[in-house]
Amino acid sequence: MLLKPVLLLVLVAPVLGLENGLMQTPPMGWLAWERFRCNINCEEDPKNCISERLFMEMADRLAQDGWRDLGYTYLNIDDCWIGGRDASGRLLADHKRFPNGIAFLADYAHSLGLKLGIYEDLGNFTCMGYPGTTLDKVVQDANTFAKWKVDMLKLDGCFSTVEDRAQGYPKMAAALNATGRPIAFSCSWPAYEGGLPPKVNYSLLADICNLWRNYDDIQDSWESVLSILDWFVAHQDILQPVAGPGHWNDPDMLLIGNFGLSFEQARSQMALWTVLAAPLFMSTDLRTISPQNMDILQNPLIIKIHQDPLGIQGRRILMHKTHIEVYLRPLVSEAYALVFFSRRTDMPFRYSTSLAQLNLTSSNLYEAQNVYTGDIISGLRDDTKFTVIINPSGVVMWYLYPIKKLGMSQH
Ligand SMILES: *[C@@H]1O[C@H](CO)[C@@H](O)[C@H](O)[C@H]1NC(C)=O
Ligand SMILES: *[C@@H]1O[C@H](CO)[C@@H](O)[C@H](O)[C@H]1NC(C)=O
Ligand SMILES: *[C@@H]1O[C@H](CO)[C@@H](O)[C@H](O)[C@H]1NC(C)=O
Ligand SMILES: *[C@@H]1O[C@H](CO)[C@@H](O)[C@H](O)[C@H]1NC(C)=O
Repeated sequence: MLLKPVLLLVLVAPVLGLENGLMQTPPMGWLAWERFRCNINCEEDPKNCISERLFMEMADRLAQDGWRDLGYTYLNIDDCWIGGRDASGRLLADHKRFPNGIAFLADYAHSLGLKLGIYEDLGNFTCMGYPGTTLDKVVQDANTFAKWKVDMLKLDGCFSTVEDRAQGYPKMAAALNATGRPIAFSCSWPAYEGGLPPKVNYSLLADICNLWRNYDDIQDSWESVLSILDWFVAHQDILQPVAGPGHWNDPDMLLIGNFGLSFEQARSQMALWTVLAAPLFMSTDLRTISPQNMDILQNPLIIKIHQDPLGIQGRRILMHKTHIEVYLRPLVSEAYALVFFSRRTDMPFRYSTSLAQLNLTSSNLYEAQNVYTGDIISGLRDDTKFTVIINPSGVVMWYLYPIKKLGMSQH
């Protein structure tokens, strides 16, 4: 007798959305986890341990080496920053590694035109065992982050139950909204439910989160990139439509600049994440990154494509027996990003096609710019045959744009 009205209330209670107006294009920045993990050994490794120093040095690099001005504005802390809770339950940063606290780091980031992101976990503990945000702490922690002037929260899901997550993620979205501070919200929720309906409700996620991790953590290897890509492509009919301005799928960080990818593979991850309208969170040592890797990450045309205002996630449109795949992302003004991707392991492959074979039939005359070489391919009608040469585990990426309508009266 008592249960029924309670359940009804839960069902009819309006879900308070996030609606913070943030991330109208996929976010860009730097996130500590993949490269720096939970290295807390500041005695022996002071330059690389999770500490105030690491984040300040990365902030300096973001501001001084061109990153910020290209859009890489988020400076994001991941796990292993927490020192405990004070007598009133308020979160505290580890006082040895973050002697000035998180509010200081946020001020520092803001003084350089950057935004600060922080990490917590909706559960008893974070994934690495630090104090988590249990349901009774959601509002308090949201208020703490707002007081510190944090700009983004990644909320992980270790040490929680299905029910905790179903209650906790919407509750945190509402709590962040109630702080009055626009705080972007990254939800790891779907990754803990297998990433697919019916266990995951993507329209609910789009209401409460700015981005969400659908699948496994990325590791520093090409195999890991491919396994994530394979999963996203296998489920693209579900995932592609749910992304859009303010709410994005997140296949996890960029590995570019680390140890696991070849030059071709680094270019491929950048191109594929860009057509997928994925967040571009670098996780590499910006103090020592090579000029070659910087060129990949700072390619202005790729960033322009990535930040396209329509915010449409691209799709794989073709997969050939020759292990060549084609990806397409529609952009404003009838332009497209095209990625020709080779999974071959032998030698550069000559792939011949036409726009019509890619179903890009139109009366437009197109021109393409090869994003990595800068070469211009002009005079493309929909039946023009062309050939691209794709290196093993590499891509050819085109920015394709109309230059005039054919068959229209000339004035
Ligand atoms: C909170 O949500 C309302 C709409 O429900 C929105 O107008 C407002 O901007 C949001 N505030 C913040 C800080 O996200
Ligand atoms: C979290 O801790 C509470 C209290 O100790 C316990 O009852 C619960 O089972 C824990 N939850 C998980 C998912 O470990
Ligand atoms: C998913 O969430 C939306 C928005 O909150 C809701 O309207 C819809 O009923 C939910 N769908 C399912 C299948 O539960
Ligand atoms: C082109 O369109 C046809 C008909 O809708 C479809 O069968 C085919 O898969 C499409 N090809 C590509 C490359 O999108």
